[in-house]
Amino acid sequence: MKKVTVSSLLKKKQAGEKITSLTAYDASFAKMFDEQGIDAMLIGDSLGMVLQGQDDTLPVTVDDIAYHTRSVRSGTSRAFVLADMPFMSYATPEQTYTNAAILMAAGASMVKLEGGSWLCETISGLNQRGVPVCGHLGLTPQSVHVFGGFKVQGREASQAEHLLAEAQALEEAGIQLLVLECVPSSLGKAISEALTIPVIGIGAGKDTDGQILVMHDMFGISANYMPKFSKNYLKETGDMREAVSQYISEVQDGTFPSAEHSFE
Ligand code: KIV
Repeated sequence: MKKVTVSSLLKKKQAGEKITSLTAYDASFAKMFDEQGIDAMLIGDSLGMVLQGQDDTLPVTVDDIAYHTRSVRSGTSRAFVLADMPFMSYATPEQTYTNAAILMAAGASMVKLEGGSWLCETISGLNQRGVPVCGHLGLTPQSVHVFGGFKVQGREASQAEHLLAEAQALEEAGIQLLVLECVPSSLGKAISEALTIPVIGIGAGKDTDGQILVMHDMFGISANYMPKFSKNYLKETGDMREAVSQYISEVQDGTFPSAEHSFE
């Protein structure tokens, strides 16, 4: 099986094929997701909530992400592996380079940063040093206290325009992938159409170039609640492998996310 790369993800977008993605935190699940044919796995700082039981992602450290990245990498043969840079680990370009090096050495093939155009210098510096970057816009969970809660972003026309401009600025700075979280479907579509690079949605409607879910939400086993944009595939199928396989098929054929799992 051919390894998934940034180039093959881009080709999928160009061919109109949907990209499938899940978070993963350990070797056993990574191996199973890989065998089922997932395109990309993210070692998300969501691990603070789903593995550590924290209220948000802020307490997660670079060492936490590096530990889980090593585990996921060792279970992965084919899928593309990217790792989150946690809260305040990329506050300055120099600090970002040091921390990105730790995550790349742990087995990531790309790092993900939350935020807009204030990151442009950092993104281009990472690229120059050989580190591919994924952006993250919309509901960026590390800014939960700025937003005053986990809220849908970009509902006002001015906010939507701002997010589109930020996405374009990030692409120009050199990101090769963008995660877009919790925005109205119309904005998910507009941003995906405006960018050349693939846009992976989570609560961003059906028209993004791919989808990602937190694996615990997809299995319906998250401790606290089930987000509107997620779906319990384990309940539907009764089997973990079947659940992943059905998630992949429904993303590929455009059945997921339906209006029920999207925002207006
Ligand atoms: O941390 C995470 O799992 C994420 C996804 C929600 C995209 O950033």
